[in-house]
Order: sequence, then C-alpha cells, then structure tokens
Amino acid sequence: MPEIKINFDEILDRNLLSSEELELLNKAEEILKKAYAPYSKFDVGASVLLEDGSYVCGNNQENASFPCGICAERVALFATKANNPQLKIKKIAITTKSEQFNTENPIAPCGMCRQVLLECEEQQKEPLEVLLFNETKILKFKQAKDLLPLHFSGDRLKRK
Ligand code: THU
Repeated sequence: MPEIKINFDEILDRNLLSSEELELLNKAEEILKKAYAPYSKFDVGASVLLEDGSYVCGNNQENASFPCGICAERVALFATKANNPQLKIKKIAITTKSEQFNTENPIAPCGMCRQVLLECEEQQKEPLEVLLFNETKILKFKQAKDLLPLHFSGDRLKRK
C-alpha cells in the first residue's frame, strides 16, 4: 500500500530562525491580539512575508452567523492577493495563544486554508514556506503542498 509522508522540520529554538522569520513570528503574535473571535474565543494570527520584504497580517474574524467567519490565514492570504497580486509570497507564519485551550502543539491550518495556501503556491510557481508555531516550537514546511497530500488542483478544471 502506498504511504503518505508529510515532511517538515521541528525547530525548538527561535535563535535558529533568520531575522526575517523572527519578524514574521512577531507580526503573527501581534495581529493575534486583534482577532475578533467572541464566539469561539480561539484567537489566531497569521503573517505573510512577500518577495519585496513587506509583510501582510491577518487574524480570524467571526460572526454571529457562524459560517460567515473566516480563518486568520485566509484573511492574510486574500488581503495579500487583493493588494499585491503581482508579488510572490515567500512565507506564512500561523499561531494561536490561549489560556482556555490546549496550545501545547502549534496550530495546524484547517482544510480550507490548506487548499487556499496550495493554490497561492501553484499560482506563483515557487514554494510558499509555512511556519506553524507556539511559544516553544516551530514546525516548518518547505512548501504549502506538503500540508495537503492528494490535493484537488485547478488543473483538474482544465477542459480536455
Ligand atoms: N481558525 C483559524 O483562524 N485558523 C485555523 O487554522 C483554524 C481555525 C479560527 C476559525 C475560528 O474563528 C476559530 O479559529 C475556531 O475554529
């Protein structure tokens, strides 16, 4: 039977990150504080680093009509695509912090966010690195594709 392996690095010391990456983590931690999550109380922050060295941040935005809400990753990615569609995304960092929830392990993006991450990567034809992190650990994926094996791709919608 074929096996699916997910490749990533586990980093236990922030000093092993580049200054750009440290800044990216700081930005995710900062934007997390402004999350609007009054229903779940589960705050998430995401920051994106673009090829020109600029950053775009997002946090989760909820609504009394629950399905209207959107995850932090997609807020950051779609804001990036809306404002800077010509710039490639080098990295995204995602985090959560909570007294109420178990955040022992870094957050893992939901399926919808993985799908969006994947399409951003396919569109730019260059790897989009993903850093999932908490206070003690960083999980680093070299490409968004690694987070979604057997994915559905836009290629499938090309007519024969
Ligand atoms: N959430 C995110 O923002 N990102 C994720 O990767 C997982 C979940 C949000 C959605 C919702 O506002 C709250 O966390 C609880 O699911």
